Amino acid sequence: MSDKAKHMIKRIGILTSGGDAPGMNAAIRSVVLAAHHYHYDVVGFYHGFNGLLREEHIAQAKVLTADDVHNIIQRGGTILKSARCPDMLTEKGLQQAATTLTDQYIDALIVIGGDGSFNGLLALQAFWLGQIIGIPGTIDNDLDSTDFTIGFATAVNTAIEAIDKIRDTADAFERIFIVEVMGRHSGHITFNVGIASGAEQVLSFENFSINNKQATLQKLAAEINTAQQSNHGSYIIVMAENLWQGGAVALADELKHQADVDCTACVLGHIQRGGSPVPKDRLLGTKMGVAAVQALNAGKHNIMIAEQNSGICHVSLADAVKHTKTVNQQLVDAQENILALTVQNQY
Ligand code: F6P
Repeated sequence: MSDKAKHMIKRIGILTSGGDAPGMNAAIRSVVLAAHHYHYDVVGFYHGFNGLLREEHIAQAKVLTADDVHNIIQRGGTILKSARCPDMLTEKGLQQAATTLTDQYIDALIVIGGDGSFNGLLALQAFWLGQIIGIPGTIDNDLDSTDFTIGFATAVNTAIEAIDKIRDTADAFERIFIVEVMGRHSGHITFNVGIASGAEQVLSFENFSINNKQATLQKLAAEINTAQQSNHGSYIIVMAENLWQGGAVALADELKHQADVDCTACVLGHIQRGGSPVPKDRLLGTKMGVAAVQALNAGKHNIMIAEQNSGICHVSLADAVKHTKTVNQQLVDAQENILALTVQNQY
């Protein structure tokens, strides 16, 4: 983009897309405040990309004022609402989105979301010539090229607080719990929560494969029995969603009926998506929002704002969605080889 074009930016569109994440509001707020600093208008589109597609939602597109973002930094969810939008993968949908952006005189679009949302944003480029910027917002922390995504720290904190409570009752009754946490298909939440809550076992995609279901059940049962006999009153397994067919409830049921081990399943679910963002997510959202507007002001295009080694930087949007970020191997090894209360780690 030429220098001339870059100084012509006047209206920035913003939307939140995919699973909401605590800290998205902090990012919206800082985009609005930073845009005003540079004398740009910000138009908020509601309900994710649907806000660009459907007539009734276009009517809800709104120029955001400082008043609109007052008193939201501490709130979970997103004031712009969110949605998943399969139509953004169709030519008709993309064309419609481009028409809306043009009709609304939008020069640049900021999307706060995860990899699915960024794929929609990338596809839009074939139909619309404005600047595009992604801000990583998902509790899953699975976006490559950024150490953290907005919402991850809060989700981990929420799950840990819940498990601390489960531990009390588990200890009192000397019970075994299987606690299922979110993360879609990656184990960032599972490992961080498992380790920080002192779980006896962590079961996730990175350390667990099910070749033979019966053998897996028997092995798990043996681990739990041995550990319980040796020292512990309670035994907590933190397990990733989508790992076991039917989830924690099915695993608990199968352990009971096929291996005679009495487990209680607890699915934490959407509680992990809500709640007031912890300071780390408020700060990350704020830093990324400011950086996104500064990047637009500097004529940057087609990038994701990222955090690497505690510093904010820019990465190519296409690179950010190329791979799913893997869980830190040191974390996996520490849990597997040292911390887990399994037969192999006992002496
Ligand atoms: O991507 C965020 C996330 O909360 C995942 O952890 C989870 O798998 C998914 O969204 C749940 O999506 P939905 O709320 O649409 O069921």
